[in-house]
Amino acid sequence: MDSALPTTQPKTGDAKSSRRETLTITDNRTGKTYEVPITHDTIHANDLRKIKVDDGDFGMMSYDPAYSNTASCISRVTYIDGDRGILRYRGYPIEELAEKSTYLETAYLLLRGELPTAAQLKEWQYHVLHHTYIHESIKKFLDGFHYDAHPMGMLISTIAGLSTFYPDAKHIFDAESRKKQTYRLIGKMPTIAAFAYRHTLGMPYVYPDNQLNYTGNFLNMLFRTSETSYQPNPTLERALDVLFILHADHEQNCSTNTIRGVGSSHVDPFSASAAATAALYGPLHGGANEEALRMLMEIGSVQKVPEFIKRVKAGEVRLMGFGHRIYKNYDPRARIIKKIAYEVFELMGKNPLLEIALECERIALEDEYFVKRKLYPNVDFYTGLIYQSMGFPMTMFPVLFAIPRMSGWIAQWEEMLLDAEQKIARPRQVYLGYDTRSYVPLEQRA
Ligand code: CMC
Repeated sequence: MDSALPTTQPKTGDAKSSRRETLTITDNRTGKTYEVPITHDTIHANDLRKIKVDDGDFGMMSYDPAYSNTASCISRVTYIDGDRGILRYRGYPIEELAEKSTYLETAYLLLRGELPTAAQLKEWQYHVLHHTYIHESIKKFLDGFHYDAHPMGMLISTIAGLSTFYPDAKHIFDAESRKKQTYRLIGKMPTIAAFAYRHTLGMPYVYPDNQLNYTGNFLNMLFRTSETSYQPNPTLERALDVLFILHADHEQNCSTNTIRGVGSSHVDPFSASAAATAALYGPLHGGANEEALRMLMEIGSVQKVPEFIKRVKAGEVRLMGFGHRIYKNYDPRARIIKKIAYEVFELMGKNPLLEIALECERIALEDEYFVKRKLYPNVDFYTGLIYQSMGFPMTMFPVLFAIPRMSGWIAQWEEMLLDAEQKIARPRQVYLGYDTRSYVPLEQRA
């Protein structure tokens, strides 16, 4: 294991340094005792393999379905303290980035590890905004989707399709090639997303306008009709940009684990990020914002909230947009999002579902079921309300999560590729199936 302390771990204090940083394990099957080194409060799973009943034994493994207590990597990208509700990108608190940064600057920070200088930012923005166009043939296969195709399905397949347009992306150990694919992936995400949206409406595609910033250009490609020059509303543009900052990375979540796992086979980044986008689509992950809004619509009125909460507590349904594997406190992103919601409602009019959401939150934060399980609103609880007020259909909600997450995925993918300790991902299993059996001919089977 890496001997350098990752910046994402609290540093060990002096009092600790005199202690023996080992774990002693006694195997009661054999009476043998083992001493295992502890680094960064972690033991190396392979050290358990020394624990054997006899020489023929494979050795001890740890069993951890859903990796709830297994670190799969050393990372220096994003830090979360779920108990205290802290989220930082490269050491910078999410609250400060949301207030002072832009999405593209934050993406640079995630990818390169430091905030850019003015010249670096200018160059970075130039390259991303000059990779927003997609090949005309990509437009043709977007045309092939049915009119009611879910835009996430279109996004996943189009990202995968990009690998056929850029075979140079296979050179994953060439730093220049990785840079180029990063510009392409981050630059083209809004274009593909907007084209998918326009396709479902049967409206002509709007080509990128590189005079606009990243988010403004996205709004242009989504909503422009006959204007010769589209001017995005600055409040909506900034609100979307902040939402992009908040969604840019979230350490080892399901889709990030996917890009690391798929990328560990050394496939190109388009194929790997298509897999990550597919992981994000699920209702327990990036699809939760869509599900949360559907749920609020199903509840229908503030009066019906208690009845719905009863169903949640009976285990019939989940309160979508609530709960998190890591946060056992208020998700810091949800706090910022709630504030943005009011800014957007001021401009667009209050979303009538807001009262239902607030009542769900009020009851849940007081109810023993939620308190005991430490279930708080997560990033997805209020985003749907904002997106709906901005004019997005529900099916676009997970797409709006995927666009900014691309920067986090690529930062994590690159970190994995350059980590000498990483190999192709290949977990073990505990096999409880049959022992050897002889093949039974068809006519002898009962
Ligand atoms: N509504 C009702 N009960 C819940 C909920 C919920 N949203 N979330 C967790 N619980 C209960 C669960 O039933 C379990 O109770 P018990 O101990 O009695 O069996 C307990 O809380 C622990 O739940 P868990 O499923 O073991 O927790 P997890 O860490 O595996 O799941 C989660 C995390 C996010 C999948 C889950 O909280 C959930 O399904 N939430 C709703 C979907 C959602 O909002 N997802 C977005 C997550 S944030 C954005 C992202 O990362 O994509």
